[in-house]
Amino acid sequence: MAILSIITAPDRRLKVKSKPVETVDDDIRRFLDDMLETMYQAPGIGLSAVQVGVAKNLITVDVSRDDEDNAPLFLINPEIVEYSEQIETYNEGCLSLPEYFADLPRPEAITLNYLDYDGAQQQLQAEGLLSRCIQHEMDHLKGKLFVDYLSAVKRGMILRKLDKARRQKVSA
Ligand code: NI
Repeated sequence: MAILSIITAPDRRLKVKSKPVETVDDDIRRFLDDMLETMYQAPGIGLSAVQVGVAKNLITVDVSRDDEDNAPLFLINPEIVEYSEQIETYNEGCLSLPEYFADLPRPEAITLNYLDYDGAQQQLQAEGLLSRCIQHEMDHLKGKLFVDYLSAVKRGMILRKLDKARRQKVSA
């Protein structure tokens, strides 16, 4: 397994729309293993392939608490088929926007169709943090970041700060 490098905003590659995976083979599984290791190491609770530069509909998630066993979830070609009417607000963050968080309303629960690690069709009902995390990662597959929900002024401020921080890192 390998640790992949996570792309941070602002970066055009994060705006790319991901494509469906046609065949779930060993190459895809190896890549998912690398994504999971990268996510754990970050550390994060969710990662989409586009965040490591591969525009395919692949997501890894693990919302287990520190005192629980790991509960990794591999989502291939995920599709949300139902949203709850109930909306909840949560302070959201993103590995591609380090150190920035914002309160964001989203549907509290979802029903999701996807292919699992073995390529088998699955359906999942998710609520709370799991639902939140999957919706966030699925936005990445559409080329969307959570700051895209914020006002243009606030988004511009965050992205300029990140850009400046990165340029300082490069020159240091
Ligand atoms: Ni994210």
